[in-house]
Amino acid sequence: QGKRDLAGKRVLISAGGTREFLDPVRFIGNPSTGKMGLALAQAALHRGANVTLVHGPANWDVPLGVQAIPVVSAEQMQQAMLEYLPNADVIVMSAAVADVKPRDYSTEKLPKRSLPQALPLEPVPDIVAQLAQHKQPYQILIGFAAQTGNIVKPALEKLQSKKLDAIVANPIDQPDSGFGSDNNQAIFLDRQGNQVAIAPCSKLEMAHYLFDFAIT
Ligand code: C5P
Repeated sequence: QGKRDLAGKRVLISAGGTREFLDPVRFIGNPSTGKMGLALAQAALHRGANVTLVHGPANWDVPLGVQAIPVVSAEQMQQAMLEYLPNADVIVMSAAVADVKPRDYSTEKLPKRSLPQALPLEPVPDIVAQLAQHKQPYQILIGFAAQTGNIVKPALEKLQSKKLDAIVANPIDQPDSGFGSDNNQAIFLDRQGNQVAIAPCSKLEMAHYLFDFAIT
Protein backbone atom coordinates (compact mmCIF):
# COMPACT_ATOMS: atom_id res chain seq x y z
CA GLN A 1 0.00 0.00 0.00
CA GLY A 2 2.97 2.30 0.59
CA LYS A 3 1.16 4.48 3.14
CA ARG A 4 3.23 6.03 5.95
CA ASP A 5 0.20 7.40 7.77
CA LEU A 6 1.24 5.89 11.11
CA ALA A 7 4.68 7.51 11.08
CA GLY A 8 5.48 8.80 14.55
CA LYS A 9 2.56 6.86 16.07
CA ARG A 10 3.02 4.21 18.72
CA VAL A 11 0.88 1.12 18.25
CA LEU A 12 0.42 -1.47 20.98
CA ILE A 13 -1.03 -4.82 19.91
CA SER A 14 -1.91 -7.95 21.82
CA ALA A 15 -1.94 -11.23 19.92
CA GLY A 16 -2.57 -14.91 20.37
CA GLY A 17 -4.14 -16.92 23.11
CA THR A 18 -3.36 -16.98 26.79
CA ARG A 19 -2.89 -20.16 28.82
CA GLU A 20 -3.98 -20.83 32.38
CA PHE A 21 -2.14 -23.78 33.82
CA LEU A 22 -3.58 -26.30 36.24
CA ASP A 23 -0.25 -28.03 36.70
CA PRO A 24 3.02 -27.92 34.70
CA VAL A 25 1.54 -29.86 31.75
CA ARG A 26 -2.16 -28.95 31.54
CA PHE A 27 -3.85 -25.65 30.76
CA ILE A 28 -7.06 -23.93 29.75
CA GLY A 29 -6.49 -22.22 26.43
CA ASN A 30 -8.06 -21.58 23.05
CA PRO A 31 -7.23 -22.13 19.37
CA SER A 32 -5.90 -18.61 18.71
CA THR A 33 -2.60 -18.66 16.82
CA GLY A 34 -1.95 -14.91 16.93
CA LYS A 35 -1.89 -14.54 13.14
CA MET A 36 -4.30 -11.58 13.21
CA GLY A 37 -2.17 -9.76 15.76
CA LEU A 38 0.97 -10.56 13.78
CA ALA A 39 -0.69 -9.13 10.64
CA LEU A 40 -1.63 -5.99 12.59
CA ALA A 41 1.98 -5.60 13.70
CA GLN A 42 3.22 -6.02 10.11
CA ALA A 43 0.69 -3.52 8.78
CA ALA A 44 1.45 -0.94 11.49
CA LEU A 45 5.20 -1.32 10.95
CA HIS A 46 4.75 -0.94 7.19
CA ARG A 47 2.81 2.28 7.76
CA GLY A 48 5.64 3.72 9.82
CA ALA A 49 4.49 3.06 13.38
CA ASN A 50 6.58 2.19 16.37
CA VAL A 51 5.11 -1.22 17.25
CA THR A 52 4.96 -3.20 20.48
CA LEU A 53 3.48 -6.69 20.28
CA VAL A 54 2.45 -8.45 23.47
CA HIS A 55 1.83 -12.03 22.44
CA GLY A 56 0.95 -15.43 23.82
CA PRO A 57 2.76 -18.64 22.81
CA ALA A 58 3.27 -18.46 19.03
CA ASN A 59 4.84 -20.50 16.26
CA TRP A 60 5.83 -17.49 14.13
CA ASP A 61 8.72 -15.04 14.29
CA VAL A 62 8.13 -11.47 15.32
CA PRO A 63 8.96 -9.10 12.42
CA LEU A 64 12.28 -7.31 12.69
CA GLY A 65 11.72 -3.85 14.10
CA VAL A 66 8.78 -4.85 16.30
CA GLN A 67 9.26 -4.83 20.06
CA ALA A 68 7.99 -8.23 21.24
CA ILE A 69 6.82 -9.00 24.76
CA PRO A 70 6.09 -12.73 25.10
CA VAL A 71 3.62 -13.73 27.81
CA VAL A 72 1.73 -16.87 28.77
CA SER A 73 -1.09 -16.13 31.21
CA ALA A 74 -3.82 -13.48 31.18
CA GLU A 75 -2.26 -11.90 34.26
CA GLN A 76 1.09 -11.56 32.50
CA MET A 77 -0.66 -10.08 29.46
CA GLN A 78 -2.54 -7.65 31.71
CA GLN A 79 0.68 -6.52 33.35
CA ALA A 80 2.45 -5.99 30.03
CA MET A 81 -0.47 -4.16 28.42
CA LEU A 82 -0.90 -1.84 31.39
CA GLU A 83 2.83 -1.16 31.44
CA TYR A 84 2.98 -0.19 27.76
CA LEU A 85 -0.40 1.58 27.61
CA PRO A 86 0.92 5.06 28.54
CA ASN A 87 3.31 4.94 25.57
CA ALA A 88 0.70 4.05 22.96
CA ASP A 89 -1.46 6.10 20.60
CA VAL A 90 -3.40 3.16 19.19
CA ILE A 91 -4.06 -0.04 21.12
CA VAL A 92 -5.48 -3.13 19.43
CA MET A 93 -6.48 -5.99 21.70
CA SER A 94 -6.66 -8.88 19.27
CA ALA A 95 -5.58 -11.52 21.80
CA ALA A 96 -7.98 -14.28 22.78
CA VAL A 97 -7.76 -14.13 26.53
CA ALA A 98 -8.78 -17.20 28.50
CA ASP A 99 -11.83 -15.99 30.40
CA VAL A 100 -11.22 -18.24 33.37
CA LYS A 101 -8.38 -19.94 35.17
CA PRO A 102 -8.25 -22.99 37.43
CA ARG A 103 -8.66 -21.86 41.02
CA ASP A 104 -5.79 -24.10 42.14
CA TYR A 105 -2.33 -24.66 40.69
CA SER A 106 -0.18 -27.68 41.47
CA THR A 107 3.57 -27.22 41.04
CA GLU A 108 3.86 -31.01 40.71
CA LYS A 109 2.29 -32.80 37.74
CA LEU A 110 -1.01 -34.23 38.96
CA PRO A 111 -1.20 -38.00 38.48
CA LYS A 112 -4.04 -39.01 36.15
CA ARG A 113 -5.88 -40.77 38.95
CA SER A 114 -5.91 -37.68 41.14
CA LEU A 115 -7.18 -35.26 38.48
CA PRO A 116 -10.27 -33.52 39.86
CA GLN A 117 -13.66 -34.64 38.55
CA ALA A 118 -14.72 -31.02 38.33
CA LEU A 119 -12.34 -28.12 37.99
CA PRO A 120 -13.04 -25.12 40.21
CA LEU A 121 -12.54 -21.98 38.11
CA GLU A 122 -12.19 -18.31 38.75
CA PRO A 123 -12.41 -15.38 36.33
CA VAL A 124 -9.31 -13.66 34.96
CA PRO A 125 -9.24 -9.85 34.68
CA ASP A 126 -10.85 -8.25 31.62
CA ILE A 127 -7.73 -6.61 30.23
CA VAL A 128 -9.29 -4.44 27.55
CA ALA A 129 -11.89 -3.10 30.00
CA GLN A 130 -9.04 -2.10 32.32
CA LEU A 131 -7.15 -0.44 29.47
CA ALA A 132 -10.31 1.57 28.76
CA GLN A 133 -10.38 2.76 32.37
CA HIS A 134 -6.77 3.90 32.28
CA LYS A 135 -6.53 5.33 28.79
CA GLN A 136 -6.39 9.01 27.84
CA PRO A 137 -8.97 10.49 25.45
CA TYR A 138 -6.41 10.84 22.62
CA GLN A 139 -5.64 7.10 22.74
CA ILE A 140 -7.66 4.85 20.42
CA LEU A 141 -8.61 1.49 21.91
CA ILE A 142 -9.87 -1.27 19.63
CA GLY A 143 -11.11 -4.67 20.74
CA PHE A 144 -12.09 -7.85 18.96
CA ALA A 145 -15.22 -9.93 19.43
CA ALA A 146 -14.89 -13.49 18.16
CA GLN A 147 -18.46 -14.70 17.77
CA THR A 148 -20.63 -17.41 16.32
CA GLY A 149 -24.08 -16.73 14.88
CA ASN A 150 -25.16 -13.08 14.97
CA ILE A 151 -21.88 -11.21 15.35
CA VAL A 152 -23.09 -7.60 15.45
CA LYS A 153 -25.31 -7.54 18.54
CA PRO A 154 -22.80 -9.05 21.00
CA ALA A 155 -20.01 -6.94 19.51
CA LEU A 156 -22.05 -3.76 20.03
CA GLU A 157 -22.70 -4.81 23.61
CA LYS A 158 -18.97 -5.33 24.17
CA LEU A 159 -18.14 -2.00 22.52
CA GLN A 160 -20.41 -0.31 25.09
CA SER A 161 -19.75 -2.36 28.20
CA LYS A 162 -15.95 -2.39 27.80
CA LYS A 163 -15.96 1.31 26.75
CA LEU A 164 -13.97 0.76 23.56
CA ASP A 165 -13.57 3.21 20.69
CA ALA A 166 -14.11 0.47 18.11
CA ILE A 167 -14.55 -3.26 17.88
CA VAL A 168 -13.97 -5.92 15.24
CA ALA A 169 -16.89 -8.34 15.11
CA ASN A 170 -15.22 -11.48 13.88
CA PRO A 171 -17.17 -14.60 12.87
CA ILE A 172 -15.42 -17.80 13.88
CA ASP A 173 -18.00 -20.17 12.40
CA GLN A 174 -17.35 -19.33 8.72
CA PRO A 175 -15.08 -21.34 6.41
CA ASP A 176 -11.52 -20.04 5.99
CA SER A 177 -11.63 -17.27 8.57
CA GLY A 178 -11.06 -16.78 12.29
CA PHE A 179 -8.76 -18.92 14.45
CA GLY A 180 -5.65 -20.21 12.70
CA SER A 181 -6.70 -19.19 9.19
CA ASP A 182 -4.59 -16.91 6.97
CA ASN A 183 -7.82 -15.16 6.01
CA ASN A 184 -10.54 -13.38 7.86
CA GLN A 185 -13.80 -11.45 7.55
CA ALA A 186 -15.37 -8.98 9.92
CA ILE A 187 -17.61 -6.05 10.60
CA PHE A 188 -15.91 -3.00 12.13
CA LEU A 189 -18.07 -0.98 14.54
CA ASP A 190 -17.26 2.23 16.35
CA ARG A 191 -18.69 4.42 19.08
CA GLN A 192 -20.04 6.92 16.55
CA GLY A 193 -22.22 4.19 15.03
CA ASN A 194 -20.18 3.56 11.90
CA GLN A 195 -20.25 0.01 10.56
CA VAL A 196 -18.00 -1.33 7.82
CA ALA A 197 -18.27 -4.90 6.55
CA ILE A 198 -15.02 -6.44 5.38
CA ALA A 199 -15.48 -9.30 2.91
CA PRO A 200 -13.17 -12.33 3.21
CA CYS A 201 -9.57 -11.26 2.65
CA SER A 202 -6.11 -12.00 4.02
CA LYS A 203 -5.43 -11.08 7.64
CA LEU A 204 -2.81 -8.59 6.40
CA GLU A 205 -5.42 -6.85 4.22
CA MET A 206 -7.84 -6.85 7.13
CA ALA A 207 -5.17 -5.29 9.35
CA HIS A 208 -4.73 -2.46 6.83
CA TYR A 209 -8.51 -1.95 6.59
CA LEU A 210 -8.64 -1.72 10.38
CA PHE A 211 -5.96 0.99 10.52
CA ASP A 212 -7.75 2.85 7.68
CA PHE A 213 -10.91 2.69 9.82
CA ALA A 214 -9.08 3.74 13.00
CA ILE A 215 -7.39 6.70 11.32
CA THR A 216 -10.58 8.06 9.78
O1 C5P B 1 -15.73 -10.81 26.06
P1 C5P B 1 -14.88 -11.21 24.93
O2 C5P B 1 -13.77 -12.12 25.33
O3 C5P B 1 -15.59 -11.71 23.72
O4 C5P B 1 -14.26 -9.80 24.49
C1 C5P B 1 -13.38 -9.71 23.46
C2 C5P B 1 -12.42 -8.57 23.68
O5 C5P B 1 -12.06 -8.44 25.05
C3 C5P B 1 -11.14 -8.84 22.94
O6 C5P B 1 -10.58 -7.62 22.51
C4 C5P B 1 -10.29 -9.51 24.01
O7 C5P B 1 -8.93 -9.36 23.74
C5 C5P B 1 -10.70 -8.74 25.25
N1 C5P B 1 -10.60 -9.49 26.52
C6 C5P B 1 -9.70 -9.06 27.48
N2 C5P B 1 -9.61 -9.72 28.67
C7 C5P B 1 -10.38 -10.79 28.93
C8 C5P B 1 -11.30 -11.23 27.95
C9 C5P B 1 -11.37 -10.56 26.77
O8 C5P B 1 -9.00 -8.08 27.25
N3 C5P B 1 -10.27 -11.42 30.09
